[in-house]
Amino acid sequence: MTIYDLIIIGGGPAGYLAAERATHGALSTLLFEQRTLGGVCLNEGCIPTKTLLNSAKLYDHAKNGAAYGVTVKSACIDHGTVIARKDKVVKQLVTGVNAKMKGRKVTVIKEAAAITGKTERGFTVQAGGNVYEAKRLLLAAGSEAVIPPVPGIKEGLESGFVMTNREILNMTTLPEKLTVIGGGVIGLEMAAYFAAVGVKVTVVEMMPKIAGYTDGEVSDILQKELTAKGMDFLLNCKVTKINNNSVEYQKDGVHTVETDAVLLSVGRRASTVGLGLENIGIYTDRGAVVTDHHLRTNVPNVYAAGDINGKSMLAHTAYREAEAAVNHMLDKRDYMRYDAVPSVIYTSPEVACVGETEETAKEKGMTFTVKKLPMLYSGRYVAENDGADGLCKLLIETASHRLIGVHIVGSYASEMIYGAAMMIESRWTVEDLREIVFPHPTVSEIIRETLFA
Ligand code: NAI
Repeated sequence: MTIYDLIIIGGGPAGYLAAERATHGALSTLLFEQRTLGGVCLNEGCIPTKTLLNSAKLYDHAKNGAAYGVTVKSACIDHGTVIARKDKVVKQLVTGVNAKMKGRKVTVIKEAAAITGKTERGFTVQAGGNVYEAKRLLLAAGSEAVIPPVPGIKEGLESGFVMTNREILNMTTLPEKLTVIGGGVIGLEMAAYFAAVGVKVTVVEMMPKIAGYTDGEVSDILQKELTAKGMDFLLNCKVTKINNNSVEYQKDGVHTVETDAVLLSVGRRASTVGLGLENIGIYTDRGAVVTDHHLRTNVPNVYAAGDINGKSMLAHTAYREAEAAVNHMLDKRDYMRYDAVPSVIYTSPEVACVGETEETAKEKGMTFTVKKLPMLYSGRYVAENDGADGLCKLLIETASHRLIGVHIVGSYASEMIYGAAMMIESRWTVEDLREIVFPHPTVSEIIRETLFA
């Protein structure tokens, strides 16, 4: 039997990037993917939602251009065309990943794989009735939508009344009313699209604020802006039941919201079921594979990267983890750091954050100062955003003068945040950072302005 240097289970961002890097390092690599290369990110997550949100943005500009001297007489959006374009974009990118795997001579097998045991030479994996063997394993099986044990959810999913991110991206006719359960990243991005195309959207969130661990001031501004666009938010409301045409929630008693469709976005959990982890004794914690900063599991020569380790559930984290894992296999000096991983919510306005929030910094006992400025301190922001709110907030550690957190709500935040991540990663002081020349006029100058605030 051929013995591969590396078997990768899962062909999402962690899996396919690891395969690419591993073959660059001359490791013979076999990759298993049960669905489509590209994983959730490419097929039913990051990329499809960005195509939808781009159409929503164009439509919004067409409808609301009057203040800028632009009037479009009959702007309309065709959801069917939006979905067709999304499919085209996904297909193009999936084709690209397939081509890359072929070009790198990665053997790709379209099957669900499971670990069956250890051998003297490595590990055995079973897929499609065949057995394969490798010296090392990389688990990159990703995550799946959490389906909470709420009465009516199972029936709703079966009938199509309740959808997860997977099904809603293929819905071709628009409901009049959509209820989104969970005001986290998936819920907000989907809500933003459907509200923009004229669906009456209600977000039901059990916490007192939307956008999870996002800085409180930032999420307040986001909620205000999204409310102004017509979305309703029910906070501190826990969904307890799904009926045929309504959702029941609890807040000082039971209430209902009538709806034509439901999006379930209450979080994701690592996909570990059926992988055979127990056959070689891989540790998990709350369902996710336990890894160290080299992405090693407790079993030597078995690594886990991406959502499956439950550390950050972001495609860009998965990429870096995959690199760090492969570099460790190749004896290269590298390890994964999580303190400068940016996160973005692609609504309008966008939210982008990196590093500590005030809450996490306090929890860690850090002493810091906060500097903040409204986005209106950026000339380009004012030129392009009539009457929009926005904020840039920096956290600076008192003793070291280093930037430890950056939180932005406003246009272009997604494209600026890598610069902020670099500032944190480089561990430069505020005095060093103030010497950086920013192009003028750009919205990114808000970071420079805030450093001087
Ligand atoms: P999430 O964890 O971000 O948000 C889920 C929300 O549902 C929470 O706010 C929670 O309080 C709420 N919730 C839970 N049970 C509830 C109930 N019974 N009733 C009402 N509310 C309830 O999870 P989400 O949005 O599903 O996203 C999953 C993962 O995908 C996240 O880790 C996220 O980072 C990642 N993701 C990242 C994106 C990006 O980077 N732009 C885009 C989409 C997803």
